Amino acid sequence: MSSRNWMCGRDGAHPSSSAHFMSTNNTDPQRMERIVSLCKRRGFIFQSGEIYGGLNGCWDYGPLGAELKRNLKDYWWRVMVRERDDVVGMDGSILTHPAVLKASGHVDTFSDPMVDCLLTKQRFRADQIPPQSGTVYQFIGALPLNALFDLDLSGPTPEFWKTWLSPTLLTSVSDLIESLRRGLNEQNAIPADDDSLMRAAEHLQAAVVRLDFAVLAPDGKPIESARKVAAQFYESRGIKNPVLYEDRSRHRKVENSTCFNPENGAELTAPRSFNLMLRTNLGAAADESSLAYLRPETAQSIFVQFKNVLDTSRKKLPFGIAQIGKAFRNEINPRNFIFRSREFEQMELEYFFNPGQQPWQELLEYWKEQRLTFYEDIGIPRAKLHTLTVPDADRAFYSKGTYDIEYDFPFGRQELEGVAYRTDYDLRKHAEASRKRLDYFDETMKMEHLLHEGKEFYPHVIEPSAGVDRTVLALLCEAFDEETVTDEKGKSETRIVLRFHPRIAPIKVGVFPLLKNKPELVAKAREVQELLKRHMMVFYDESGAIGRRYRRQDEAGTPFGLTIDFETLGERGDELRDTVTLRHRDSMKQERVAIAELLAKLLPQVQ
Ligand code: GAP
Repeated sequence: MSSRNWMCGRDGAHPSSSAHFMSTNNTDPQRMERIVSLCKRRGFIFQSGEIYGGLNGCWDYGPLGAELKRNLKDYWWRVMVRERDDVVGMDGSILTHPAVLKASGHVDTFSDPMVDCLLTKQRFRADQIPPQSGTVYQFIGALPLNALFDLDLSGPTPEFWKTWLSPTLLTSVSDLIESLRRGLNEQNAIPADDDSLMRAAEHLQAAVVRLDFAVLAPDGKPIESARKVAAQFYESRGIKNPVLYEDRSRHRKVENSTCFNPENGAELTAPRSFNLMLRTNLGAAADESSLAYLRPETAQSIFVQFKNVLDTSRKKLPFGIAQIGKAFRNEINPRNFIFRSREFEQMELEYFFNPGQQPWQELLEYWKEQRLTFYEDIGIPRAKLHTLTVPDADRAFYSKGTYDIEYDFPFGRQELEGVAYRTDYDLRKHAEASRKRLDYFDETMKMEHLLHEGKEFYPHVIEPSAGVDRTVLALLCEAFDEETVTDEKGKSETRIVLRFHPRIAPIKVGVFPLLKNKPELVAKAREVQELLKRHMMVFYDESGAIGRRYRRQDEAGTPFGLTIDFETLGERGDELRDTVTLRHRDSMKQERVAIAELLAKLLPQVQ
């Protein structure tokens, strides 16, 4: 195993990930805010533990969010497992044996470099700090203003002492006595005796707090801005109304420094390594013997169960094992809504193959294309997707080739999924650590095997690893639209609509009786609901004007609305009896469809 830190391989470690701090032309924070607000208003996503102030980095999915997420996972499972002969599924436990994550390298290297802002204590990933240029102002300590009020020397005011003493205060007591004497002289004050001067000097020396702190002021910003930040820093360390001490000899110009908080210029601590795994204890003893981890990726249980799945499914190479499930990472800086959270879901496939029979480059390309097609099939256009060939320096140590599939989020272009060639690293490591056989014997090579040793080998792996929550966010961002519409009376209003692909839309059909106080209309609408609800998610709504009901479903992203009216009851003639108005969300066009034809018309579109 390489000694390189894992941080380079896990998502978001590429230079583009500092987009968090940047406001480039490609970002649209207002749009993002409107999406987040809609998610809360319509019950897609809420902050976890909201009524207690929220649990940072954790989110709860409401009724619409839960449906959307389920549809996404179901579609992934359908195309990655059920529609393929060469993939089987599994569902591993979240609680993970420490030996698994020791062998995989997570215990020793699954970490991010972390820095803290010395002023705000905010924590950042060191690799996400954008480089900054400007002047660094160096401070070496501060004195509470009150200490000057306490000076037992008649004559000069605290304001005088404040400017007079600052250059000398941090030097020796004897220099300080000399400075006090000259200060009194300067102000024509009564000279103090040696004892009073000594007491005053010792009092000041004891009151000064020596503590280095630096502030970066970007080019064009005056030194006062740095002093303001420094004053806040010393105040936060308990020094009231601090008189600042600067070391002018250490003020300096810097270029592309990543040592300062981009939000306020305050100095950051040196990077420290921070393991991202969440630990827990199983059973009554809360010590190392009962340690377990919440898995940081779903992949490891697939590798650990490789032999069991192989033996029981009787698959031959190449074949894959797929899994959808929760993963946990104690992210230093969860951010961008559900994009980077501490509890999230992954959809992962480990596709095992014999590198002697299939070049890995071919399979990597194949899976990249499969995954791009998947995103298109759920409504994310190719033009908004980008494949990044992860540079050697940024790749996880176990990988020999990785593509990141990225999407243009309103906060910048960011990773949705990684498609990586993991070599035989994991199977080999687990076999070595457990001393159990995880290799593969190729039957087709039996004859050769008689002649040559070594037909048992560790299969190599291509891993498409997608984030459920990130994809949900991409779907929401892609679907969100606001348009101005004008009604029959000429009145304009903004229509908010989520243009989800019907396949992943949380609700597929809204069913509306024209009037709720007409039992025949209600009964017919309920009949239509019954007909459809075994096949798709249906929402029945009888309250409010029909236009308002349509708008509510537009905001929920429901692609179809069915209105049951008097024509349906046959009151305008037999021709329209048992037909309904089918309204299309995106075009707002309406057509008349027979109830008997509804399933055949809608089902292919929502599956
Ligand atoms: N098994 C490989 C693996 O876990 P990764 O790049 O660290 O690789 C794969 O994660 C995917 O999981 C990412 O592309 C992303 O979609 C999702 N993911 C990772 N960390 C996440 C987080 N903190 N919050 C939400 N999704 C995350």
